[in-house]
Amino acid sequence: MSTTPQDVLATGTLDLRAALIERIGGYMTAHGIGVAAELGLADLIGTGSRTSRELADATATHEPSLRRLLRMLVAVGIAEEPAPGRFALTDVGSQLRSDSPDSLHKFARMFCHPIFFTSWQSLRHTVTTGERAFDHVHETGIYDWLARHGETSTLFNEAMSEESRLSAAQLAAGYDFPAAGTVVDLGGGDGTLLAAILQARPGLRGVVFDSPSGVAEAPVTLGKAGLADRCEVRSGDFFQSVPDDGDLYIIKSVFQDWGDDEARAILRTVRSHIPASATLLIVGTVLPETADTSAPVAYFTDVNMMVTTGGQERTEGEFRALLEETGFTVRSVGVGQAGPLSVIEAVPASAA
Ligand SMILES: C[S@@+](CC[C@H](N)C(=O)[O-])C[C@H]1O[C@@H](n2cnc3c(N)ncnc32)[C@H](O)[C@@H]1O
Repeated sequence: MSTTPQDVLATGTLDLRAALIERIGGYMTAHGIGVAAELGLADLIGTGSRTSRELADATATHEPSLRRLLRMLVAVGIAEEPAPGRFALTDVGSQLRSDSPDSLHKFARMFCHPIFFTSWQSLRHTVTTGERAFDHVHETGIYDWLARHGETSTLFNEAMSEESRLSAAQLAAGYDFPAAGTVVDLGGGDGTLLAAILQARPGLRGVVFDSPSGVAEAPVTLGKAGLADRCEVRSGDFFQSVPDDGDLYIIKSVFQDWGDDEARAILRTVRSHIPASATLLIVGTVLPETADTSAPVAYFTDVNMMVTTGGQERTEGEFRALLEETGFTVRSVGVGQAGPLSVIEAVPASAA
């Protein structure tokens, strides 16, 4: 017997329907946040409130349409409408301000950028074939694409820096770094993580290592942090070689970008270049053995990696297997030791 609309009302399944429909609207939320970030609405609203007329004038947009977008952002908890047509930011929305210390403004612009939206439109291609949608759509891999699109590459590096800021502070405070020696951050991007560590440990020196486009913003970040004389920036390819003069190596949010074959290749390069006495810290998401609702971002990232880079998030067991197969011994796994991220400490097997 088929269910009628009356049955739905009678059984209280309306909430269930709303819950699903809201989730289907996730892409609309993402588009709305992306446009708000592009227009800089959060900076214009700041800590006070602005009318949609004022915001439309400041952004050269169509006021009635902008007001409707703002109301949708109210509905999803980004903004508030304290009086009709007047808008303020919620605490969640305030993170879209570019001057906020915990800003995710560049992060929102990057992950709502057309290169991601167009790749996700081909999610079905990835699920059907196992191939990266990004390459299918853009005819090249994401890091090659970024290397050829300087402005977006800068935005990507800045977005990563915003994402790293919280876990950098937590790692700098929560991990027992040595007082002296050299820390090498592999795939270290703009150096945000290393800057936080070096600021917390004045006796340490550092090396940020990444591809030429990956390290492009690092001299500025390190210069602003007053660390130019304690931290070197080196470019290279971690599939070929990595610096051999470090004591502690960090590799944060990198293995998620790669499938197991590439992850093993990177680890073998690391293993063959680092001193036998060195320590390796992998900082990233460690997935639970079975999926649950406690960390949806980890699963968004996992599928985002499947679509864009061909990489994946991993469980502790999967990390252990990769490390053991490539000549490392795992010393400890600190789940959640760096904000939402975990820290896996490993050493070359011969040194264990
Ligand atoms: C997801 S980002 C993470 C950046 C930084 N570790 C962080 O957590 O903010 C991955 C980094 O790996 C770098 N990368 C990609 N391929 C590389 C290669 N072959 N050699 C060195 N770095 C590479 C990228 O340029 C990028 O900075």
